[in-house]
Amino acid sequence: MYDEESIVFEEVRLIWKPDRTSEIPIYKQIADEIERRISYGEYPPGSQLPSERKFAEQLGVNRSTIILAYSELRSLGIIESHTGSGTRVSKDKWEATPRHTPNWKRYAEGGSFLPNLPFLRRIREALQQQPSLIDFASGELGPDLAPVAEINALIRKLPDLSYLGYNDPQGYFPLRQALLSYLEHYRHIHSTESSVLITSGSQQSLYLITQCLLSPGDAVAIEDPSYCYSLPMFQSAGLRLFRLPSDERGVRPEDIRALYKKHRIKMLFLNPTYQNPTGAVLDQERRVQLLDVASELGLPIVEDDPFSLTAYDVRPPLPLKAMDTVGSVLYIGSLSKIAASGLRVGWMVAPRAIAERLADARAQMDFGLSIVPQQVALQFLGSDDFAPHLERLRMKLLYKRDLLVETLQRELADEVTFTVPEGGLHLWCKIRPKVSDARLFEEAIRRGVAFSPGSVYGSDSGYMRLTYARPRTEEIVPGIKLFAEALRSVME
Ligand SMILES: Cc1ncc(COP(=O)(O)O)c(C=O)c1O
Repeated sequence: MYDEESIVFEEVRLIWKPDRTSEIPIYKQIADEIERRISYGEYPPGSQLPSERKFAEQLGVNRSTIILAYSELRSLGIIESHTGSGTRVSKDKWEATPRHTPNWKRYAEGGSFLPNLPFLRRIREALQQQPSLIDFASGELGPDLAPVAEINALIRKLPDLSYLGYNDPQGYFPLRQALLSYLEHYRHIHSTESSVLITSGSQQSLYLITQCLLSPGDAVAIEDPSYCYSLPMFQSAGLRLFRLPSDERGVRPEDIRALYKKHRIKMLFLNPTYQNPTGAVLDQERRVQLLDVASELGLPIVEDDPFSLTAYDVRPPLPLKAMDTVGSVLYIGSLSKIAASGLRVGWMVAPRAIAERLADARAQMDFGLSIVPQQVALQFLGSDDFAPHLERLRMKLLYKRDLLVETLQRELADEVTFTVPEGGLHLWCKIRPKVSDARLFEEAIRRGVAFSPGSVYGSDSGYMRLTYARPRTEEIVPGIKLFAEALRSVME
């Protein structure tokens, strides 16, 4: 159903219009425009062009003008018309004509990067096409939770930058210094400037780790279910993934020992506090056991910790990194889930040799993160607004969580079950009636509401993630009502 061909290349649509004041005949302008778009790879070989009548209507020209344009392109071997199947971009144009366009579609399928999961691309596409959708799918803060006014005020008063050249690829030094106090104060993590690397969100930390510290064929362990955007990234790096089942206390340390014995896993990726998507917290006892297992096996742990500062009432256990006396943990944090995902500011705390190696690798990609968001992050972390913002964020998230939970209990008590999370942005739900993920998703979109099907986190079907941080408070009740209608309509 989510086959790429059917989503992207179904039909050619032009917003472009011919220039009626030009001396170039209109049919020629149309033929040139189509050829240009084919050459940019916008219309790949085999894609369907509109019928002459429809195209004439779209462009506001006579049908005979389109007939002329098409026949010009046909004579060049660029397009083909067949009775019954209409007009298409030639499949073998590359050989048939004297002018050769690279086969961009083939290039787009090349390289070692796998595309994102079709469901994720479908969610993104639905949100772009229907901006009015009530969005329980995007894992980020909505405008009512992000410190929009504070950050805007701060941007207006940014101190002058004295230097605008390439900056240190390990990150803007004053921001690294500010992060030392932040990590110490909020996470009880002791670090040094040289062990901090500033990244473009946590995502870049994960990317750098998988590409630079691991090799194709290496085995790594991840939680089951797990953060969805990391799955294709791991696969693109050629890693063998082993899933660790987790319960409400998180993953079980003894499973890690067993996996290590069997597959010699090289690294363990965990999101131990308010895990995405389940909201589970690895408890204190298991944290201690896990660090013991890691130090016994010499196994590095990547601790991905974007949510811990959202804790509502109960404080979560200390991060693994704060308890790590041996140096097993690479710690990743970010401003995305506590302030603004669009700033793209994240950080990693790692042994100096690793921070330098990864800074060197990222310099090969982009010469370092732009100084502007780093300067904004520096000002925000150091401002009097930061701590009150966190307090307000927790209260508002708690309110939205409760509203979602109450609404689900009222509207879908028999159909949807969940464990109430004590922090984070998401509610992980089991859908009790047997329904197809794709049908439920399409039906929900049709009715105006988006959610993330469980399969994108590698889980079995019959689960979903609802993000209560993204929709506005007043959208939560109507959004769940629409979802309930969608679910009932697809129940067998
Ligand atoms: C567990 C986890 N890690 C990392 C990320 C990446 O976030 P960012 O790159 O915006 O910091 C996310 C985003 O949803 C996440 O949920």
